[in-house]
Order: sequence, then structure tokens, then C-alpha cells
Amino acid sequence: MTDAEIKKGLAGVTVDHTAISKVNPETNSLLYRGYPVRELAATQPFEAVAYLLWHGELPQAHELSELETFERTHRDLDANVRAVIDLLPLDAHPMDVLRTAVSVLGASATDVTDNSPAADLAKAMLLFAKIPAMVAYDQRRRRGQELVPPRPDLDYSRNFLWMAFGEEPADVVAAAFTVSMILYAEHSFNASTFTARVITSTTADLFSAVVGAIGALKGALHGGANEAVMHIFDEIGDAANVVPWLDDALASKKKIMGFGHRVYKNGDSRVPTMKAALDQLIAHKEAQDLKDLSDALEREFVSRKGIYPNLDYPSGPAYHLIGFDTLTFTPLFVASRVTGWTAHIMEQTASNALIRPLSAYNGVDERHIAQ
Ligand code: COA
Repeated sequence: MTDAEIKKGLAGVTVDHTAISKVNPETNSLLYRGYPVRELAATQPFEAVAYLLWHGELPQAHELSELETFERTHRDLDANVRAVIDLLPLDAHPMDVLRTAVSVLGASATDVTDNSPAADLAKAMLLFAKIPAMVAYDQRRRRGQELVPPRPDLDYSRNFLWMAFGEEPADVVAAAFTVSMILYAEHSFNASTFTARVITSTTADLFSAVVGAIGALKGALHGGANEAVMHIFDEIGDAANVVPWLDDALASKKKIMGFGHRVYKNGDSRVPTMKAALDQLIAHKEAQDLKDLSDALEREFVSRKGIYPNLDYPSGPAYHLIGFDTLTFTPLFVASRVTGWTAHIMEQTASNALIRPLSAYNGVDERHIAQ
């Protein structure tokens, strides 16, 4: 088999149908269940978008209220999950902590091997409700702070920020956070979603698929890029340093995190919506320096390489301005994307075929042990 016949990285390969989202690089659009994501971000709470991804339709008022009630009554950190988190070193990467915490939750579930639609939906809703407490608590313990219990009177985003910082967020902060959650929720067969579908295709349980997906999301070529963008900004320091920094980075063939995408080649459809939210945060936090740096790097990189920013480019700085530690950025992506992952897990189970591609062997020819 020739190199040309091998679809390295599965680039350009269509492996299945999906009714969950449509990424269209020609029109630079992203639809969740048919709705443009920017319309959802402008009009819906994250809870309604989660419902849409799982059920295919936006919720009626009573359906939204049922989901909200479930989420609000399951958002506490379970004692056994907390105990395991507390055993982990303070310098463990928060993605490793979250992967472990989700694994503990799964191992403690009573119906773990029940892959029926009703059981999987219940597990998806449980993860949706539980992950914010894990992420918020881990950041607090690393900062030497006490756990902040959830507040049932607050919506998903406000409660998440409450548990992380122990104070109620300003409206503009809660709104920007909700926009980021909605934009990160789903993106067809990306690496972590595909990982979840591969694990599901073996008939393993939903928690195993989500744990695997968290591992895939950690890498800097995927979800880890939002964290990597902030490291780059810290390294550059000031807009005035962008040109020499970029000269060096490109001369040493470095990839610039937060730019480029496997599917979008003319710009990521989610970026304008997230940039608008970031601009609001910049105005609110009076962080013009950050905007100058971000704009300067984008201008310079796009003009030199013709490669555009992806969603991680504005969302990393947005999470920084909200007050999250840089290492917490990718776990925030998990809190959102778990909705898309679990929708795909249910779709895979409903129409399953074991995912098992072929490989072309290029190792040594057959040989034998000398007798
Ligand atoms: N910085 C510098 N060069 C980049 C680049 C970036 N962020 N993204 C792509 N390129 C260049 C590659 O070096 C390559 O150049 P070459 O043909 O001269 O070797 C060309 O563009 C194609 O890149 P490639 O990595 O093969 O394309 P891909 O479709 O596999 O890449 C990504 C997609 C996302 C992996 C890639 O753009 C990337 O690594 N981006 C940075 C990480 C990131 O932000 N990830 C989040 C994605 S949402």
C-alpha cells in the first residue's frame, strides 16, 4: 500500500453519519441540531443547549425546568470523589485530576453497565451536573482555599463561578462564561468525540468513554490549546514583543497554539461570537493590554501564514480574565464538551458498529527464533 493510499490522521475520511452537529467549512458555519451556534449563544442558557444536543429539540419550558431541577440537586461534590481528589498531588495537572474524578464517579455508579438510552441519558445529566464541582474544587485546593458548596438558587454558569471563586459573578462575566460553554459544547467528529465513539463502539460504558475523551482532549493539538495560548501570551508579555517573538517561533518551526484547524481553513465559525464576549470582558476588567497583545499576534500571524485563530484563541484569555488559573482552562472545556460527547455516545450506541480500522504493516519481514 502506498503512502498516498493511507489516510494518515484519518484526514478527509468520513466514518459515519451524525445528526448532532454540522460543521461547514465552505460557509464557515456550525449548526447544533440545525440551529446556528451563534443564535444559540445569543438566546439560550447552556442548560437548554445541553438538552438540545441530547434530545434533538430545544426544551419546552417544563422540560427545561426539569433539567434545571436535576442539575441543581446533583451539583454537590460526592464525598468519595473529594477524598480521591484530596489524595492527588497539588501539582497534578487538573485534567489528570478531572479524569480521575470522573472515573471515581463512574466506578461508584450502580447502573454502570446499563447502556440503554434512559440509563445513558441519566448518566450524561449526572456528569453535566457533577463536573463543575470537581473543576471548581480542584482549583480551590490548589490555591489553598476551602470548598465552596453549590447554591441551588443560581443557574449553571453562575453556580459554577460561585463554586470556583466564592462570589457571585457580574452579569457580563456570567454571560461570557455561558457563551464559552455553548460554543465548546459540540463539534462533530473531533479527536475526543471520536475517542468516545471508539470506546462506545466496543459496548463499554458511558463513563469509560468520557474518561477516554478527557484523555484525548488534554493534548495541546486539541483542547489543551486554550491553556497553551495563555502560556504564549505570558511568554510574549507585551504587544511590542510580538514581532521578534514570532520571528523566533516561526524560525524554530514552532506551531502557534490557538491558530489553525483540521476542518476550518478560512476561519473558525465560533471565533467572532467568542471574541465579542472577550471584548465585553476586556472592557469590564479594563484589560486593554491583553487586547492589544491578542490583536497584534493575530494580525501578524494571519498576515504571515494565512492561518486563522480557532476558538481556543479568544477563550483562553477570556477564562484568564474571569479569574481561572491557566491550568484550569481545559477542564472548563470538558465541563462543556461532556454534553456533546454524551450525545455522540448515545448516537453511537443507537446505531453501533465496532470501530476498527486497518493498518499497513511496514515492520521487518517474517523471521524465526534461531533453534
Ligand atoms: N502554527 C504554525 N503553523 C501551523 C499552525 C500553527 N498553529 N497550524 C498549521 N500550521 C502549518 C503546519 O506547520 C503545516 O505547514 P507545512 O505544510 O509547511 O508543514 C500546515 O500549516 C498544515 O498544518 P497541519 O498541522 O498538517 O494541519 P492539520 O489540519 O493537521 O492541523 C491543527 C490542524 C489544529 C492540528 C494545527 O493547526 C495546529 O497544530 N494548531 C495549533 C494547535 C491548536 O490551536 N489546536 C486547537 C485546534 S481547535
